[in-house]
Amino acid sequence: MHALHARLPKNFVLEERLERYADAIEPSPARYAGRWAEACHPLSPEGGLSRFDEVRLDMGCGKGAFTVEAANREKNVLFVGIDFEPICIAYAAQKAVESKLDNVVFVPGVADKLCSYFDAGEVSRIYLNFPTPFPRKKDARGRLTHLDNLLRYRDVLADGGSVLLKTDSYPLWSFSKTQFELAGYRVDWESTDARRDRPRDPISWYEERLSAQGATVFATLATPAQEPVREIDGTVAQTASLSLVDYLPEDLSTMEYVPHGMQGTVTNLRNLEKKGNFNRHL
Ligand SMILES: C[S@@+](CC[C@H](N)C(=O)[O-])C[C@H]1O[C@@H](n2cnc3c(N)ncnc32)[C@H](O)[C@@H]1O
Repeated sequence: MHALHARLPKNFVLEERLERYADAIEPSPARYAGRWAEACHPLSPEGGLSRFDEVRLDMGCGKGAFTVEAANREKNVLFVGIDFEPICIAYAAQKAVESKLDNVVFVPGVADKLCSYFDAGEVSRIYLNFPTPFPRKKDARGRLTHLDNLLRYRDVLADGGSVLLKTDSYPLWSFSKTQFELAGYRVDWESTDARRDRPRDPISWYEERLSAQGATVFATLATPAQEPVREIDGTVAQTASLSLVDYLPEDLSTMEYVPHGMQGTVTNLRNLEKKGNFNRHL
């Protein structure tokens, strides 16, 4: 995903930025588990206890454009943006501080640790905007929509809470559907053109950039429903194909837009297919 990353300005010193925008960064999220809605709420003028109505997560928030815009629109909701890239957190925190919003905070953290950052039922919505696709089978566990992560999200979501995925990648979207099903989620809404269907949703940095390059946005809104089918040892069996190549259309010449992160793969496959007799699924 690096091709879209803007170059860092010459005078960018990460530590200095993290310190300057520290008011919008929570480096020890586990301290707040179970009390985010109260602990992050500004004190009321009367000194009484106040809390946000909801806590929502922007997982893999990048530089936080979506998180800050969403927070600006719903001031009674606490938005927590999480990303494992400290540079992203520095930029996101800068946006939060400059916006003067007090309902947005950024966490330098990883999806695997979500259950230590939040208590069961504490989160009402998890946004997954343009998650890194990790196309290769060996990297599939890193996908934010991998079964293991969807099972983690179930643990922190409140009753009726949901996951909203948006992506430019048809292969990632198709793979994610298999994972939602295995993890026992019910699909409440899906779209092959989310910008057309929900034009007023806040837009993320990747959505804006990739749409300008011709992407349409695939989306799924899913809610934990029935318990997933578990093996005797308690695990949920992974039965889906893990390489995103397996979710590409059979005829690559029909693909007008190549999803971000798969350009190299698609070019290689097209070249091999031109040479004839190539079976990509082997
Ligand atoms: C393609 S960017 C999308 C950023 C933003 N959501 C947007 O739409 O503009 C994906 C982001 O997810 C972050 N990320 C990927 N896997 C993650 C994980 N397991 N935990 C936390 N952040 C992750 C990356 O660092 C990157 O900033």
